[in-house]
Amino acid sequence: EKEYNEAAQACVAPGAFDCEAFCLNAILKVAARLKGAFAIAVLSKHTPSAVYAARCESPLAVGYNEDGFYLLSDIDALSEFTSLGTPLDNKSAAVISLSDGIKFVRFDGTESAQRFSVLEKSDKKTHGDTEKQFKGDKMLAEIYETPSALEKCALNFPFYDSEFFRRIPLNSFDEIRFIGCGTAYHAALHGAFLTRKLCKKLTVSAHLASEYLYDNYREDTSVLLVLVSQSGETADTLGVLRRAQKNRTYCLAVVNCESSALAREADFCIFTKAGREVAVASTKAYNTQLLILTLLAYNIAGARGQTTVSKLNNAYETAKKIGSYAAAALENECAAKAIAQEIKEKKDVFFIGRGLDSFCALEGALKLKEVSYIHAEGFAAGELKHGSIALIEDGTPVIALLTQPETAQKTQNGIEEVKARGAAIHRLTVANSGKKSKADRCNLVLPHIENADFLPVIATIPLNFVAYYTALYKGCDADKPRNLAKSVTVE
Ligand code: M6R
Repeated sequence: EKEYNEAAQACVAPGAFDCEAFCLNAILKVAARLKGAFAIAVLSKHTPSAVYAARCESPLAVGYNEDGFYLLSDIDALSEFTSLGTPLDNKSAAVISLSDGIKFVRFDGTESAQRFSVLEKSDKKTHGDTEKQFKGDKMLAEIYETPSALEKCALNFPFYDSEFFRRIPLNSFDEIRFIGCGTAYHAALHGAFLTRKLCKKLTVSAHLASEYLYDNYREDTSVLLVLVSQSGETADTLGVLRRAQKNRTYCLAVVNCESSALAREADFCIFTKAGREVAVASTKAYNTQLLILTLLAYNIAGARGQTTVSKLNNAYETAKKIGSYAAAALENECAAKAIAQEIKEKKDVFFIGRGLDSFCALEGALKLKEVSYIHAEGFAAGELKHGSIALIEDGTPVIALLTQPETAQKTQNGIEEVKARGAAIHRLTVANSGKKSKADRCNLVLPHIENADFLPVIATIPLNFVAYYTALYKGCDADKPRNLAKSVTVE
């Protein structure tokens, strides 16, 4: 304020003092002194017709239309208000002035020529339609959007001999690491497991982005990182990307939000095409991530000569039908409601499975605790007896996933162990080939898919219903669970 007054008084000629330039300069000075990630919007009493914005690491997007200007932390949400927008460049500021329009400046004071682009609208329409049908209930609407999301995702996935796959040297890497946070990490576990299964000689692993950043993994051109994220703005995942790029390590993003920082900055991108996901709990985005990672695993194997063209073609054929399999999985809604009624008063719920099922078990548990606040844990079924079985009491619900023929018998052993301690078992199984899937009271059934690697892609649909209805019966707002945000843009 003192500097402002001095500068204003120093300008003797009337109208010579440029208040907006002064305020912008003040913001740049403050930004230079701030530490860490931030996204701010500033108003000044001296320039009532201007808004200033600045960002470093945290996302901030600017948009406009004939009604006015918009500043949002989520560019994806901007399309609800305007068709023109741009994410503010990292370490940049903007002055949005009613008289002079928008000006972008880097923190070093140089002007930046950011361009506005037309924001994709189509998702808004699809979402709007289902949302209306579900009376604004976003999580439920998004579960119901899973079949169409998967169909779009499959359609968009590049064919194995496409230009996209010719550009990524999938056969040249010594190591592939799949990385994400929360739900995206569960997808990463699936991607890593399947890639390991199909590519015997490749070193493949999955990591939590927040932990990977503080581990000492070698990074160079022989390593490929597959970064999975719905929002593309998760700070930990972006941290991994930015460090990897300093180490000349290739990053392939599997991302839903197409204008996100991850999508813009990664070397290669596959969009999940799940449509806008608004509910905090990720549902349809996870299913599309699994579809992409399954097809990617087959493509990696194909590029390395570890699978046949006929198996690759079959994988693409299965992907084409995945929307109808997902639609059949929606038929579990009634059984899921019955399970939700049973578990809504329980203290703990356990999800068990082995192999690919174990990752959906983790996801089922995360979803339930996230929206219903019931303590839930997912386990590789063989692990329970190493300690946590002590928590099983008479009536403790255990949801067992038995979709994988290779491991179902082993999971059955785990079921017997907890049953003997009084657990109430609910099974998620697969219909026999040629039979219609029919969920009974308290047991969930998926349609038969010839290639079982694709079953996890739809396995969480019934589990998402269980989480949603448990929250509903407990009176919790599933769309906005306490303490959580849709994009976690802080470390
Ligand atoms: O946007 P991202 O996929 O990177 O987000 C990662 C996690 O924060 C996210 O999946 C979170 O776990 C969800 N709330 C789970 O439903």
